[in-house]
Amino acid sequence: MIIVSETPDLQKRLATVRKSGRKIGFVPTMGALHEGHLALIRACRKEKLFCVVSIFVNPTQFGPTEDYRKYPRNLKKDAKLAEKAGADLIFTPTAEQIYPTGYRTFVEVEKLSKRLCGKYRPGHFRGVTTVVLKFFNLIQPDNAYFGWKDAQQLIIIKKMAQDLNLPMEIIGVPTVREPDGLALSSRNVYLSPAERKSAPVLYQTLLQIKNDCEKRGKSLEKTLKAASSRLKKNPLIKLQYLEAVDLNTLEPPENTGNEILVAIAAFLGSTRLIDNIFLKV
Ligand code: PAJ
Repeated sequence: MIIVSETPDLQKRLATVRKSGRKIGFVPTMGALHEGHLALIRACRKEKLFCVVSIFVNPTQFGPTEDYRKYPRNLKKDAKLAEKAGADLIFTPTAEQIYPTGYRTFVEVEKLSKRLCGKYRPGHFRGVTTVVLKFFNLIQPDNAYFGWKDAQQLIIIKKMAQDLNLPMEIIGVPTVREPDGLALSSRNVYLSPAERKSAPVLYQTLLQIKNDCEKRGKSLEKTLKAASSRLKKNPLIKLQYLEAVDLNTLEPPENTGNEILVAIAAFLGSTRLIDNIFLKV
């Protein structure tokens, strides 16, 4: 496996791969790799693509009070994990390379970027789409892999690819969870033992909503309300939102038969966790 930090070097190496007729797959990450990230790398390998993994903690997607500075960084450990999962190349540019002094251009997917997490993290998705589009341009992958754990991000990237005619396929990979149901996240390391013990309640709540609506025919609206008030009584959890939206538009669901996404965001102490589940009602 190769580790590259300069863009001219990256492009030279990828030109050689392309010349050999091999397709390129891309897995963007911010590092602190865990089994969730590795599932994306494995999905790419399974399709026999040359697998490029970016590790870049992207400053433009963090708000001023968020954890950009303390975000966990450990390239050596990440490189080992990525290689074992089948990565062929790691790209780790500096912030100065991606955003040189005087950088001015941003991409935004309107509406979708203002819903769910976008309401509480202004500018977050604008930072994500900008950096992802820059990486797409630098790498020119055939396929790019994103986790359903960050469903809104995946839906926004798919929309950007469609709207801007990006010549690649965006592939969603199912959420990888701990045995107790907690979705793997680089931020789980911030949880205190008591918070970690409470954290699976987020996914349990989503499962219960799914079960109540799909199997017991209960009303989605009532089920969501009941679940929210239950969570609000939990002293370790500060619910930010629990919402059901149309999977494509992220707008309130209408009776179109489209799949529904139920998404949740909550603080446990100062750690913000998100999760989601699909529903068919
Ligand atoms: P990061 O949080 O490092 O996540 C990188 C990719 O791993 C994302 O596509 C995310 O959805 C996926 N992922 C994280 N946890 C997962 C889990 N438990 N199961 C499955 N997939 C999981 O998302 C970002 O970085 C950034 O916003 C990025 C796209 C790299 C742009 O900076």
